[in-house]
Amino acid sequence: MKNIKHDFVEKRVGWLAIFATLTISIGGLVEITPLLFQKQTNEPVVGLEPYTALELEGRDIYIREGCNNCHSQMIRPFRAETERYGHYSLAGEHVWERPFLWGSKRTGPDLARVGGRYSDEWHYVHLMDPRDVVPESNMPGFPWLAENKLDGEYTAKKMEVYRQYGVPYTDEDIAGAQAAVVGKTEMEALIAYLQALGTGLQQQAN
Ligand code: HEC
Repeated sequence: MKNIKHDFVEKRVGWLAIFATLTISIGGLVEITPLLFQKQTNEPVVGLEPYTALELEGRDIYIREGCNNCHSQMIRPFRAETERYGHYSLAGEHVWERPFLWGSKRTGPDLARVGGRYSDEWHYVHLMDPRDVVPESNMPGFPWLAENKLDGEYTAKKMEVYRQYGVPYTDEDIAGAQAAVVGKTEMEALIAYLQALGTGLQQQAN
């Protein structure tokens, strides 16, 4: 039997577009709106600490060097992932990240919980030339990071901006920001950042 209603939209492409848009909008709103109000998705997990001044600078170096082009920071809730990387990522671990670095491109392993997995020395050797510790690695080396020094000119400013977005930096954190990073190498900052990744939740679990 012929369905008159379907016949109508199938022959009128303008109406088809309007109904399709309407249907997708409702579906989208139904999925997105609750997430904006759910505590689980917009409040920090218990015990989450904001990045220290040095870790924050390390994060900016991570972005500058494009580490996120090869490394995701989001463990999906699948057994193959949780057995390899640890507890799957929670939105509450990332509420202070701007921009977040979840990604999906995995030329290298996910780094969401790499904090504490290796020693600082391992990271140093690996970042200078990955093949010194992982012979088959195709990750590039970043030896200049060991030479570039931070002056911390903008560190306090960055923390102030983050504070406007709700990251709980104290006045002391901001006042001491430059002193905390000045003279440190970019390598030290990046390693401090890597060692912090994913540890908020680990502390909670322990
Ligand atoms: C061209 C892609 C590529 C880029 C860019 C890249 N990596 Fe990698 N990374 C890899 C690959 C592949 C591996 C796995 C082999 C190895 O351990 O070296 C890896 C491994 C790692 C590991 C060890 C992870 C583990 O669990 O064993 C860390 C840490 C890491 N990368 C950090 C970084 C950082 C920091 C940067 C930016 C400064 C970066 N990577 C840039 C491809 C990349």
